[in-house]
Amino acid sequence: MTKNKNNQAIWSTRIKNNGSGLFQRIGSSIDIDKRLYREDIAGSIAHVEMLFKQKIISFKVKNKIIYGLNKIRNEISTKKFEFKKRYEDIHMNIEKRLFEIIGEEAGYIHTGRSRNDQVITDFKIWIKSANKEIIIVLNRMIKSTLRLAEKNIDTIMPGFTHLKNAQAISFAHYLMAYVEIFSRDKKRFNNNLDNLDENPLGVAALTGTSFNIDRNYTTKKLGFKRPTNNSIDTVSDRDFVLDFLYSVSVCSMHISRIAEELIIWNSEGFNLINLSDKIVTGSSIMPQKKNPDLLEYLRGKTGSSYGNLFSMLTILKGLPLSYFKDLQDDKEIIFKSNDTLIDCLKIFDEILKNFTPNKKRMLELANYGHLTATDLADYLVKNHSMSFRKAYQKTANIVNFAERNKKNLNQLTLVELKKIEPKLTIDVLKVFDLKNSVNSKKSYGGTSFENIKKMIMKYKKKND
Ligand code: ARG
Repeated sequence: MTKNKNNQAIWSTRIKNNGSGLFQRIGSSIDIDKRLYREDIAGSIAHVEMLFKQKIISFKVKNKIIYGLNKIRNEISTKKFEFKKRYEDIHMNIEKRLFEIIGEEAGYIHTGRSRNDQVITDFKIWIKSANKEIIIVLNRMIKSTLRLAEKNIDTIMPGFTHLKNAQAISFAHYLMAYVEIFSRDKKRFNNNLDNLDENPLGVAALTGTSFNIDRNYTTKKLGFKRPTNNSIDTVSDRDFVLDFLYSVSVCSMHISRIAEELIIWNSEGFNLINLSDKIVTGSSIMPQKKNPDLLEYLRGKTGSSYGNLFSMLTILKGLPLSYFKDLQDDKEIIFKSNDTLIDCLKIFDEILKNFTPNKKRMLELANYGHLTATDLADYLVKNHSMSFRKAYQKTANIVNFAERNKKNLNQLTLVELKKIEPKLTIDVLKVFDLKNSVNSKKSYGGTSFENIKKMIMKYKKKND
């Protein structure tokens, strides 16, 4: 066996260049993928254990390699490891260090595998746990939302369509809409796990290997469910990267929607919520200002998430099978998306704990825009045997009348109402009560207080 020239690239026997500074900088991904060191070492340990079980390497070599890998893990986690750009990536950095620690027998570690399957194995393990971490943070956020909803079941506000006052709702019902949204996000991240549960290790560069390896063994050892089916597909596939980036984008988009809404509600024009000093920022010139910068940050970051998703889609577009260097960028993209989303979720959780609804103002605003008009139309259908269209016309006439007289619907007298619909009785006046209006929406999923209470209970149980 030729002696390993340890400070040179693995391929230095074949390729006679040292790589210019620029090429080294471009080609090297160590600054990014060193984050995968734990996964890489776990993958290598499973691999050599399998090689030993299959009698491809000896007991002694296996133990030496595992000893070296454990030492390297320790060196990295205690920041004693020197990462070198000239060894490109985390895989080569670890392999090179293994040679330094255990000598020539390190050369057995790469039997029957390639960096192509190695990197996806590491990456899939990493993304699997990233999905799980995001689900945990989402759960925390859902809990905070439920807590706020519980305190606001009878907080009445206008529900908007087209940002115009539409019908009265409970603020808790609005919050529970976000519980649904974030629960769907959770499901989306959870659904990603199935594809991530396929073990790439052992497909080697692109063909599989002539060594008698046992992929089911490494599958089990590394916590995957099954080995991937096709070696070419395995090293080419980055669908699991797209799934993650898409899930992050959707979740981030959801946060941007609520952030935008809270920004609007916090404006002087609406004044529906108050943000505590913990989550606002001042202005350098206007001493009076308290700006919702954090909410704006959340809204803005959605742009980066979409950008990351589109970067990856574009990298993959038209890329032939199987491995190309183009794919190396996938890690930077995923890490950025992941880190930003985790930050955003944590910030959003803080925001949930640091704003209060301005209940008085919510109710006051709900008194503008004839929010109970639909209740009146429903009342006419139920009590005066009219079709809904007929009742709609009658109600429109009543709203016109109120508007002409600069009154809200609940300020109209029975005498005035009877001028438009003589059949009306005193009974009708209760439909203009906002609380009644909210509480009358008892259809499943509607805003009645009972419905909301039941939904909160259901989610509280689920999230325990
Ligand atoms: N650092 C590389 C990446 O992340 C590992 C795979 C390298 N494979 C290769 N054939 N050059 O993509």
